[in-house]
Amino acid sequence: MFQAVLFDLDGVITDTAEYHFLAWEKLAQEIGIKIDREFNENLKGVSREESLRRILEHGGKENDYTAEEFAAMAKLKNDNYVEMIQAVSPKDIYPGILQLLQDLRGQGIKIALASASKNGPFLLDQMQLTDYFDAIADPAKVAASKPAPDIFIAAAEGVGVDVSQAIGIEDAYSGIAAIKAAKVLPIGVGKAEVLGTDIALVESTEMLTFEYLKKIWEINH
Ligand code: G6P
Ligand code: MG
Repeated sequence: MFQAVLFDLDGVITDTAEYHFLAWEKLAQEIGIKIDREFNENLKGVSREESLRRILEHGGKENDYTAEEFAAMAKLKNDNYVEMIQAVSPKDIYPGILQLLQDLRGQGIKIALASASKNGPFLLDQMQLTDYFDAIADPAKVAASKPAPDIFIAAAEGVGVDVSQAIGIEDAYSGIAAIKAAKVLPIGVGKAEVLGTDIALVESTEMLTFEYLKKIWEINH
């Protein structure tokens, strides 16, 4: 049986992936770049700076800004995003997630956060979920962001579990790639067109029951 579950946050525990999109869309609009939801799939799971780099490239403006201007834009997006998430509360936890966390706890399975977001700890607090987490991997301390495996390796280390004994849950293409690279067993939340046909997928977090995780683990071992 698996000994740890490593959770992404945005788009897995709650709908903040949407807020990230809205905040990037606003920033992009202000500098004359249009982004849509399809393009946004390339930003999910990706660090703040890399997201901005991809947006500027998308708009053909990657050489238009100084390092200071770049930093100011990243800050502007984050200020906007932080404002949006002030109202996040326990009622925003996606369906099935609280039950899953409770069941994992009850079974003595470790729980870790493997989010690229520096706002992760704040969001867990807002949703009153912090106590369920045995470890929160710090994205500021990992060398490479998703799709590199670093944050999932750090999360497994944080709870003292070997990667081969862990399940990782992600909604982003880059996140699934990171889980695979870490040699953790992936479960995707989303569509096969985005996340691939070679992994276990759920359409909604409601399907993420302890029984489901056990079934996927058994199929793969
Ligand atoms: C997560 C989200 C991304 C976001 C990144 C950094 O991976 O999926 O959309 O850009 O975290 O988040 P932050 O809150 O630190 O800007
Ligand atoms: Mg995500």
